Amino acid sequence: MPISRRTFLRSAAASALLPVVERPPTHLLPGPDGDGPPLAERAARKGLFYGCCAATAYLDDAGFAQALGREAGVLVPEWEGKRGRIERRPGVYDYSAADRLAGFARRHLMALRGHALVWHLSNPGWLDEALSVPGASDRLITDYIARVVGHYRGQIQSWDVVNEAVEVEDGRPDGLRASPWLKAFGPGYIDTAFHAARRADADAVLVYNDYGLSAADPWSASRRRAVLALLTGLRRRDTPCHALGIQGHLRAFGPRFDPDVFRRFLAEVAALRYRIIITELDVRDDGGPTAPAARDRAVADLTRRYLDVALDQPATLGVVTWGLSDRYTWLATPAEHRPGTPPPRPLPLDDALRRKPMWHAIAAAFDTARPRTHG
Ligand code: XIL
Repeated sequence: MPISRRTFLRSAAASALLPVVERPPTHLLPGPDGDGPPLAERAARKGLFYGCCAATAYLDDAGFAQALGREAGVLVPEWEGKRGRIERRPGVYDYSAADRLAGFARRHLMALRGHALVWHLSNPGWLDEALSVPGASDRLITDYIARVVGHYRGQIQSWDVVNEAVEVEDGRPDGLRASPWLKAFGPGYIDTAFHAARRADADAVLVYNDYGLSAADPWSASRRRAVLALLTGLRRRDTPCHALGIQGHLRAFGPRFDPDVFRRFLAEVAALRYRIIITELDVRDDGGPTAPAARDRAVADLTRRYLDVALDQPATLGVVTWGLSDRYTWLATPAEHRPGTPPPRPLPLDDALRRKPMWHAIAAAFDTARPRTHG
């Protein structure tokens, strides 16, 4: 029996998914150039939330920390919550970095998202080895989740329990990624992870998180089909997964965004009684004009079109950008940025922490979104 809407909302409210934290009134949080309330305030006015990821190193940047505390109502550790940082050695748990971000969130009355309990990347070397041993125990999943979710119980509004389990190119009929998790335990590892998270925290909203779900191209369409099949199976087996996290790594000059395609997908997810969170929104701006103003306009235009669809779906709970300022974006790392091309401008604030057209696009999307009547 899928969880009732009331149970979900009670758990969501209890886990601060719905903005239950009382942040200082807007006039105490002036925007840098006086163009109105910060994004967190605009979202909260509609019963939504806005937040972003950050890494502990960025908190030592006073200007950035001030902008973060002003704009975001939800914080996600960019990498401090991943297993490669928490359990570097088997059974030795180091929460120090993630705790620092949790402390920042608490001091700034922000909710906290947990990311990510089971992923095929950012794992410690010993884990990949342990998973490759025949007959490996799924306590490699359940013990870790029990410890980490238990450590943060009562602090986390929502957990990305399983991240990026779909990879259609791996050729499986179910479209699942042939990850070390799947090879060790079969597709049931996903259900195992969600049940373990539910046992460890009865209130946190539990999220399946993935990417490549937004554009109109055939690759994205195949991923949407695989994710819908995964979500349908979880529902059929009564697995405690409450929401789909749509990462939202967009391309301003990439595959076309078709609002009707995306709207239909969101409706199909909602019809399966899942909530929706846009969990890692940023917009790559390479492959088009090089002038920053033209790139900023294209990024803002796509952001607004995307969020107008996302926020028009009543099941959508909030928006998280993968970073706040171009000063700190994963898209500038060597793994993601082509040398010799202009630095990326994928986020709401520029590298001088000034609000960009993308910030105004997000603000306008919240301002025009219909208020949530969570009942
Ligand atoms: C990225 C971080 O931003 C990088 O700093 C880190 O080196 C690798 O992971 N999808 C996800 C995120 O779910 O965890 C990834 O974050 C970006 C893609």
